[in-house]
Amino acid sequence: MKKILVTGGCGYIGSHTIADLTENGFDVISVDNNSRSTTHLLEGIEKITGKKVKNYKVDLCDFDDTNAVFEENPDIVGVIHFAAYKAVGESVEKPLLYFENNLVSLINLLKCVASFKVPYFVFSSSCTVYGNPDSIPVTEETPTKQAESPYGYTKQMGEQIITEFAKASGVRSVLLRYFNPAGAHPSALMGEMPLDKPQNLVPVITQSAIGKLPGITVFGDRYPTRDGSCVRDFIHVCDLAHAHTLALQYMIDGKLSGITDIFNLGTGSGITVLEAIRTFEAATGIPANYKIGSNRPGDVIAIYANNDKARRELGWEPKFTLEEIMKTAWAWEQKLQNDEKLFTGKNIRLN
Ligand code: WQD
Repeated sequence: MKKILVTGGCGYIGSHTIADLTENGFDVISVDNNSRSTTHLLEGIEKITGKKVKNYKVDLCDFDDTNAVFEENPDIVGVIHFAAYKAVGESVEKPLLYFENNLVSLINLLKCVASFKVPYFVFSSSCTVYGNPDSIPVTEETPTKQAESPYGYTKQMGEQIITEFAKASGVRSVLLRYFNPAGAHPSALMGEMPLDKPQNLVPVITQSAIGKLPGITVFGDRYPTRDGSCVRDFIHVCDLAHAHTLALQYMIDGKLSGITDIFNLGTGSGITVLEAIRTFEAATGIPANYKIGSNRPGDVIAIYANNDKARRELGWEPKFTLEEIMKTAWAWEQKLQNDEKLFTGKNIRLN
């Protein structure tokens, strides 16, 4: 079996991707320093796939520790890099934390990829690289604009670093631009696990519904959109995970034209924040408690994907609806609460 290293494997998208890779015949190891995750999701992977996943608790900002993982696993054929901080609002408040963590970790990883001659690299990028696009939906050819947040800058710089690295090293690389990942594994054995107050809309909705949060603040409803709230493209985490497996296989099968390529991973439909809240209510029957607040610095007004290229080149087909995103997210939130009770109140979200 081909061995794949997944960084951030204990995180939300990383864990779902490990499950998908494993179910598609890959042998996967994880590198995750658990600064913003626990190993709880690896237990979920084991229950789903029957396979135990080894996690190296390593900070990628430490080159020697990162290099040691590759020395112990010289048979790695591909790396999928998720490990990064990703909260738009937090990055505006703490820019140096984001530049240091997200860029130093990437550069250390690429040094190891080159020295251990790993042939394939997949990068977790983001639609934030488009900034506030002039026209939507965005294609991969839509020019990237000034990012709206330091988080967005780290993704733009990450793409540039990898593109130049790939040209110089010959390491084939794919940049996957996610839109808004949301939802949870249908088994309710994995899902989004923010360790402290969630930043993203869907976990805020589910934590408000279960009573962990007092309610939802909608960050602005006077934007130039159909109902005044921001527009996003919510993509189910399982659809997103499967795209990584397809992208890796695409490179292994020698289908990558050139040395790097870019793919948008979104559903292709734009949903407003208020529509997302209403979809949660309709999908679960639970009324959402929300109020309108001020705009959040760093927010893009409206963005959603043209995903034709991923459909055509990767054979990728997003399957989950927004209703299923909300239903699976809610089932996971309820499971988490039960697990926390089972652990006699121990908060499983802490290390
Ligand atoms: C979505 C919308 C908020 C919380 C995310 C990830 C980023 C990247 C892109 C993958 C915005 C509004 C939110 C709340 C709200 N994904 N909102 N009240 O900022 O689009 O970026 O997707 O790489 O990593 O962070 O996602 O869920 O924070 O916000 O009104 O309590 O919901 O203003 O319009 P965002 P988000």
